Amino acid sequence: MERILITSALPYINGVKHLGNLIGSQLPSDVYARFMRSLGFEVMFICATDEHGTPAELAAISKNIPVKDFCEEMWSLQKKIADNFHISFDYFGRSSSQQNHQLTQHFATKLWENSFIEEVEEKQVYSLADNRFLPDRYITGTCPACGYEKARGDQCELCTKQLEPTDLINPKSTISGSQSLEIRTTKNLFLKQSLLKEKLEKWIETKEGWPVLTKSIAKKWLNTKEGLKDRGITRDLSWGIPVKKYEDIWPGFEDKVFYVWFDAPIAYIATTKEWSDKNKLPDTSWKRWWLTDEGAENVSYVQFMAKDNIPFHTISFPATIFGSGENWKQVDFIKGFNWLLYEGGKFSTSEQRGIFMDQALDLYPADYWRWWLLANAPESSDTDFTWESFQSTINKDLADVLGNFISRVASFSVSKFGNVIPDTQIYGQLEKETIKKLDYHYKCLKDLMQNIEIRKSCNALRSIWVTGNEYLQKAAPWSILKENPERSKMIIRFSLNLINLYSLVSEPFIPFTCGKIRNHFQFSKVTKWPENLDSFLNTLGDGHKICVPDILFQKITDEERIRYQQTFSGISP
Ligand code: 2FM
Ligand code: ZN
Repeated sequence: MERILITSALPYINGVKHLGNLIGSQLPSDVYARFMRSLGFEVMFICATDEHGTPAELAAISKNIPVKDFCEEMWSLQKKIADNFHISFDYFGRSSSQQNHQLTQHFATKLWENSFIEEVEEKQVYSLADNRFLPDRYITGTCPACGYEKARGDQCELCTKQLEPTDLINPKSTISGSQSLEIRTTKNLFLKQSLLKEKLEKWIETKEGWPVLTKSIAKKWLNTKEGLKDRGITRDLSWGIPVKKYEDIWPGFEDKVFYVWFDAPIAYIATTKEWSDKNKLPDTSWKRWWLTDEGAENVSYVQFMAKDNIPFHTISFPATIFGSGENWKQVDFIKGFNWLLYEGGKFSTSEQRGIFMDQALDLYPADYWRWWLLANAPESSDTDFTWESFQSTINKDLADVLGNFISRVASFSVSKFGNVIPDTQIYGQLEKETIKKLDYHYKCLKDLMQNIEIRKSCNALRSIWVTGNEYLQKAAPWSILKENPERSKMIIRFSLNLINLYSLVSEPFIPFTCGKIRNHFQFSKVTKWPENLDSFLNTLGDGHKICVPDILFQKITDEERIRYQQTFSGISP
């Protein structure tokens, strides 16, 4: 059977991520990983912190601690938060690992041997006040393409255009704010992507099912006015993967490191090796995911990321892989996301606007956030998080529809029939019709999830929950209890089976709650989702114990909503 390799874009180490970052990769990739495991696929789900480059250095400078210590601390924190959001990584590693040092240097050597790397004398911005070159995020200014005033030296966040520090209009140093800058000559290694343009173009053409967003961004980058540009892959920085190992082939590079965007995607591979090394497994165990001559030809590889990452994953990283001339696995499907906005504006770390992952968990359980974010995932366009929408989605979908069904059914069952599932006759016409409806939504859910349509999958899941509620309303076991107790029992038995179904099919989306439901009702573990629901909805056998669970979802009050709206608006109270 096909195996599924899933990578989530590596979060920068520079701080706790906000909800926009969460829905941009970690959360949807987790739902997909959980779902594919439920269908019986062997899954490898990998992520790591992206630790090099200017974001890490700048964050460490602002905290006044060595960058290595900063990364250490922040890795533990990011890992803990991902765990608390129930992100089911098979391994959460670090791009600063030994494995990534080795592999990045390996790729550089191969690219050099195959003539895809050249040394280039180039002009870079030098800050007289800071006494250093200002690569990437060490410099900000106005984007020449769209006029955004806070564009960074490597990329404009607003229009996603890749930039060189020398492109910026009105530039200034991020460290000191100084504008006394001059252009000096320095030497860097360049990846000659332009030589691979045709190969990349053809390869992208074969990706028929790729989302429009992914393909259009890739094509835009391939076909700029100047054609596909070669990219500098080294920097005048001290923190990163050193180039110095190569002083025999690249003298003069002793004080330089590889560019963060060169080593970060390689870390997808290196992190799988980190997983294998940590578990003391032989090298074949990670290579079978990554080398097509060692088993990876049977792997389907899916990457998740926000839209600003797409150019690197459709062009630069594939170019690195093609240029190596080795049999590394290329990505099969890229799922890109638009931006999540916060109450009509941008999330902003500096202005403390929006909700960050650690804060979110102090307010509500992870499943509240998971459900809202997934049900509103910014797939086809940017999406706005508003507290009104959050309150109404959670109160309706989770509390009124799902939670209420479970407590109503369990309470009625226990109060009228005691602590075991009612033993009763076979299902009637209404139950058969309901199974048919459920089966339809269940199949939609499976198809949609296989196509990674997150919002539509949430709609299908919601339809499953709603179908159960409509059934219960119509069957009304409470109103026929006296005249037809046998039928009332049967309705409750069927409804208890529906709870079992809900805990199964909702698990990829709200795993913590589903675990709680399964534990409480002692539902047996299902290793693979059934083909259809007929027999599954007869799973709970005679004598199965039933108790009333605690309330699963507390409603969000108006008072809470108003309070949090103020707290997270970025305006000091
Ligand atoms: O945009 C970001 O947050 C980057 N750290 C993503 C890197 S993805 C991968 F290539 F490592
Ligand atoms: Zn721009």
